[in-house]
Amino acid sequence: MKSDLYVALENRQIAPGIMRLSIQRSEATGGMRELPEREIGIKRKTPLNFEAEDWAYSPVEPGQFFMLKTRAVEPLLPRPLSVHEASGDVVVFLYQTRGAGTKAIAALETGDPVLATGPCGRGFPVDDITGRVALIAGGIGIAPFRYLARRLSKSPSISSLVLVAGFRSMLFGLEDIAPFVTEIRVATEDGSAGTKGFVTDIIAPAPFDAVLACGPIPMLKAVKDSCKSAGTRCLVSVEARMACGIGACLGCTINTRSGNRRVCVDGPVFPAEEVLFDGGE
Ligand code: FES
Repeated sequence: MKSDLYVALENRQIAPGIMRLSIQRSEATGGMRELPEREIGIKRKTPLNFEAEDWAYSPVEPGQFFMLKTRAVEPLLPRPLSVHEASGDVVVFLYQTRGAGTKAIAALETGDPVLATGPCGRGFPVDDITGRVALIAGGIGIAPFRYLARRLSKSPSISSLVLVAGFRSMLFGLEDIAPFVTEIRVATEDGSAGTKGFVTDIIAPAPFDAVLACGPIPMLKAVKDSCKSAGTRCLVSVEARMACGIGACLGCTINTRSGNRRVCVDGPVFPAEEVLFDGGE
């Protein structure tokens, strides 16, 4: 993990309140790179169109995050954003604008400098995940699954990869992940797409060898409980308020079976059975 100066390549809204930001380490930045053509002849002009082998050179693991700070005077503290995609010197984030920190990030324009510290935390153990896998996303919890799905899709140990995503209403991020999964199931709270209800209404952990979940705490708890009943391995990416992002302030501490753990350095990905949600089971 290190701090570097990056430059914003693209920062645009993809759904109401949902933004996608790509940044590139500044020493390599000379404007948007013209990337080589793929075999199918589509020019790789956007930061999401990476070649399959690109990721092998990236030290970023799926589920990790960066602490981002813009030139804005306020807020003083950097904001943690989960990695949506990574390749070489480019990192992409999918984020929701809901506070001063993310609003400052949403104001970034192409060419603006960004101080980024990372990759931070422990991500999903890609090489240790096998068989039939389900990715369970709640809202903006879908953010890490693009990079994770791309990495898992290259693993010969994965036999199927299903994305189960829940939203309030508006869908987002699915098209980024679709090329790398075998199936997508959707639930919306207002019934505007997919099954009406919560994502927890449409998961059935029994057919899977591993369930990887990211979303709000009540969803993670429900996923943990259903995986426990089914005897299915479950990993959860826990969201917590973070000030330093490097393990110094203890502001992100959660209760686990092995005592208090810091989400920013011990997580954000934990085995679900380790995490004591609401201080209980
Ligand atoms: Fe400071 Fe985790 S955010 S210890």
